[in-house]
Amino acid sequence: MKLKSTLLTVMLMAVLHPVVAVEVQPETDAEFDQRMEWFTDAQFGLFIHYGVYSVLGGEWNGEPVNGYAEWIQRWGKITPEEYIPLAAQFSPDALDADAWVKRAKDAGMKYMVITTKHHEGFCLWDSAYTEYDLGEATVFDRDILGELKVACDKYGVQFGTYYSIIDWHHPSQRAQQALNKTPMNDKEGYVTYMKAQLKELIDRYDPAIMWFDGDWTPWWTMDDGVDLYNYLRELSPDMIINNRVAKRNEFKKDYGTPENFTPGAALDHVWESCWTVNHSWGFKKSDTTWKSNEVLVQKLIDINAKGGNLLLNVGPQADGSWPEASIGQLAEMGRWNSAHQEAVYGTEFVAVAEPEWGCMTQSKSSTAESGELFGYVFKWPEDGELRVRGVSAGTVEVSTYDGIPLPSQLVKDDIVVDLSSVQPTDYATVLRFNYSGGLKLSEVSYDLELEGDELILKAADATLSGKTLRLQDGIAVGWKGGADSASWNMDVIAPGKFAVKIFCDYGFRRDTGVTLTVGDQELKATLSGKTTNGMKLVELGEIELDDVGNTACTLQFAGFPKRSRLSLKTLYLVPINH
Ligand code: GLC
Repeated sequence: MKLKSTLLTVMLMAVLHPVVAVEVQPETDAEFDQRMEWFTDAQFGLFIHYGVYSVLGGEWNGEPVNGYAEWIQRWGKITPEEYIPLAAQFSPDALDADAWVKRAKDAGMKYMVITTKHHEGFCLWDSAYTEYDLGEATVFDRDILGELKVACDKYGVQFGTYYSIIDWHHPSQRAQQALNKTPMNDKEGYVTYMKAQLKELIDRYDPAIMWFDGDWTPWWTMDDGVDLYNYLRELSPDMIINNRVAKRNEFKKDYGTPENFTPGAALDHVWESCWTVNHSWGFKKSDTTWKSNEVLVQKLIDINAKGGNLLLNVGPQADGSWPEASIGQLAEMGRWNSAHQEAVYGTEFVAVAEPEWGCMTQSKSSTAESGELFGYVFKWPEDGELRVRGVSAGTVEVSTYDGIPLPSQLVKDDIVVDLSSVQPTDYATVLRFNYSGGLKLSEVSYDLELEGDELILKAADATLSGKTLRLQDGIAVGWKGGADSASWNMDVIAPGKFAVKIFCDYGFRRDTGVTLTVGDQELKATLSGKTTNGMKLVELGEIELDDVGNTACTLQFAGFPKRSRLSLKTLYLVPINH
């Protein structure tokens, strides 16, 4: 009875107060593109994690605490009573804003984003709405965000502010933080506080980016995020806001933020991958896992080639100086970037198949008819011959980045370059491909040199029969028993011998028989063990086909050992000496 009346009340309330999803403030595609232009051109930015946690440097009671340094309050189970007073020790006397921004500028970074308030709740500016800030909680008396903004304007670097949605210090959430709970006892009050602080940041420092974080907390909803997004767009119409303002998995405006991760391919929205120069975001004494210069330069290229920006993080020490290693890393990236300006900043994503030797982009001025592609060679070909697969044009001239011509040929759908006259350069060797007469991009199968006369049977075109056998992203998965099969109808154009290969990924607990029947011919083979590193081309043997014309072809396993797996993408019949 009780339940019923509660339900009724809820239903009535729903009728009286319909839940209206908040809509994102409208903006045309052209307006959006224009607002985002500097950002999508930027390629590279600096992330700074700096706060009270920097004082601890990842250690509590003399011991390193596992996890990111800026999370130490949580992972070190430090109570608010112990943590809050640490702010008094925050005194960035060695902070040289000009030097910070100059380092970013020299590294080739076009923007920076600094944590003005991380999860700990401490504010890096003197806010009128809290005493837990640089104004009241410390003896230090400088406006460091103001100094950074001035330096950014001086060096032509865009200034961005990170602001955490969760706040372990605000009274609405403070209780039990150290116990890893996410309480919220006054959402309205807290949202008012956030809005007032964000307005303060905009009024004082006019940030080009507002970078949110902490959106995962259960009390923060999509509607809350969209409402905040609209509020900010109103206050600062040109400002760019990252997608963590709402729920990052659903919200893509203004841009996506993969973290310590680079997507495998270009995305359908603007994005920026954030990575650290070591592991922790905030300064951590025990974290010496500095990434090599090669890893960092190649990371920037790889992200840019997929259409994204790299936001690379440095965690300054408590006094505002930077760890020596990070100064060196940025300087070295700057050296590479300034020696390859055109290949770093003048480029955009091109839809070529990702080469096994590195990455490719195209210059922004390229058209379908003529233009310039850039190749970034990470893995130097042992025989000095570089193959750009699936890329061709009427004519192509290849040269080094500095314009030294390199011998090359167009072979079928590929460009083959002779690199024997040049040496690889540090981190990545850039090549230029000037093309005219129309760019031709074709699909590439990396494990097989296709000659054009193979019979190609794709799982996606097969008739699959079996209880759990099905197609998933063009791959036949869910093989279970001997009755499972994939069948095709194909045209055999010329009789003769064919090599049979399957492009697949498998793991068999014991030797497993497989039969390929083509017309009245049969090929039996055995698969054992497993493939490593994804899909492989596996040879099943040879088959002789005497009859031309439409022919049925079936692939079937003799049985399927328990806890074994097979993902099948393509079956190739490759003519031998026809
Ligand atoms: C995470 C962490 C955080 C870091 C951020 C950077 O969400 O909570 O400490 O600031 O990622 O992207």
